[in-house]
Amino acid sequence: MTHREEAALSVRAVVGLQWGDEGKGKIIDFLSAEADYVVRSQGGPNAGHTVVVDGETAVFHLLPCGILRPRVTCVIGNGVVVDPETLAKELAYLDGRGIRWEGRLQLSHAAHLIFPYHRLLDLAWERRRGARSIGTTGKGIGPAYADKVTRIGIRLVDLRDPAHFRAKLAANVQEKLALLAWLGDPAELDVEEIAESYLAFGRRMASAIVDSARALNRAIADGRRVLFEGAQGTLLDLDHGTYPYVTSSSPLAGGVGTGCGIGPTRIGAVIGVAKAYATRVGNGPFPTELPADDAKRMRDLGEEFGATTGRPRRCGWFDGVALRQAVMLNGASSLAITKLDVLDGFAEIGLCTAYRVEGRTVDFPPPEPWLFQQAEPVYEMHAGWRTSTREARRWEDLPAAARSYLERIEALAGVPVGMVSVGSGRDQVLTR
Ligand code: GDP
Ligand code: IMO
Ligand code: MG
Repeated sequence: MTHREEAALSVRAVVGLQWGDEGKGKIIDFLSAEADYVVRSQGGPNAGHTVVVDGETAVFHLLPCGILRPRVTCVIGNGVVVDPETLAKELAYLDGRGIRWEGRLQLSHAAHLIFPYHRLLDLAWERRRGARSIGTTGKGIGPAYADKVTRIGIRLVDLRDPAHFRAKLAANVQEKLALLAWLGDPAELDVEEIAESYLAFGRRMASAIVDSARALNRAIADGRRVLFEGAQGTLLDLDHGTYPYVTSSSPLAGGVGTGCGIGPTRIGAVIGVAKAYATRVGNGPFPTELPADDAKRMRDLGEEFGATTGRPRRCGWFDGVALRQAVMLNGASSLAITKLDVLDGFAEIGLCTAYRVEGRTVDFPPPEPWLFQQAEPVYEMHAGWRTSTREARRWEDLPAAARSYLERIEALAGVPVGMVSVGSGRDQVLTR
């Protein structure tokens, strides 16, 4: 679907096609100029979505990026894990900038809470894994989702009944302290102190904690324009990513439905966001990763440092094999290619079109993690354009070499490039 055809559809999902940090925040900010709702349906404060407006940079971990648009209602769906401390900081940031959020933020009553013991456990498990650590963000994501799946998680709705909340919390704290001690990271936690601060958060947000699935379905039925803001990326998907080097939720378009309570038939288009090259933060396979010196050049040009942890991101060439897989897994209808400008100075640009695995050439990621780890990229080298694309606002403004590079990505993906981002600023984007 072209960008124009998609824009006519009122419900669209924006998902990451790589290992996260594709520039989803930037694309959501741009598209939310014409949206009524922006919704997060999975992940939590492990996400870091950057929006640059008039030179001012904002990074959101939990709030949907649409919050910067005064007419947009933002929803944190049931599939998200919510850390009240992070949310409070983001709301304080909005207050400081005079951006009104009361009345246009909805939190699903069914979303699970992240507690201090989740962060401690995240770090303790990572330390225990040693050389095989995942390189998590340390935000307590895995342990919070583990509690959800083992059915001992505490949800926003639980804050409505303090006695019941305290009892659940006390039982969980007791269990987690024993676990932390067993892991060799003993901790002390004051149940009453945690209960007080979480219950105060519950009182403060009481009117925002709603049955967001009902509200959202009503909005869709009324023809409201809805954008789903994906977090993380396809290759970090719990089922379809590079397991076990993944996150604990489903960043795929398929995760949107369960993560906010809408049916799959409601989503009209899926916009897959990918950088014009590739990055990964944390450990795990990355076939097109560049050696240190080349990676450094790309990292410096692309300012590739984590928006959540500040860690340097690993950098490499665009992986067309992983892209094709990601387009398939998401049913993506178009691509938004970001950070094209970062390649402006390169004389040659690598594009991986296949892998060599155990002496064979394949055009799909091998299912065995140990083979994916060893996959050797087969590159097609493209001539660089060596001129700035940052001022391009129409497809025709792009240098011919840049268009041909994008057309090749399009051919590998089997779906059109509908948007190209050529800078971090809100207006530095072109649509087709
Ligand atoms: P997200 O997690 O997918 O929202 O992406 P991040 O915000 O973590 O990382 C993307 C980074 O690239 C941010 O610093 C953005 O400001 C920046 N960015 C987004 N699009 C572009 C672009 O087209 N060009 C350049 N140079 N930077 C961009
Ligand atoms: P956004 O939404 C990039 C990575 C971590 C680690 C793995 C598991 O900004 O694109 P976790 O803390 O989720 O248990 O860590 O996933 N990771 C991300 N990488 N962007 C993100 O989010 C990420 N969220 C998690 O680095 O490798
Ligand atoms: Mg990010």
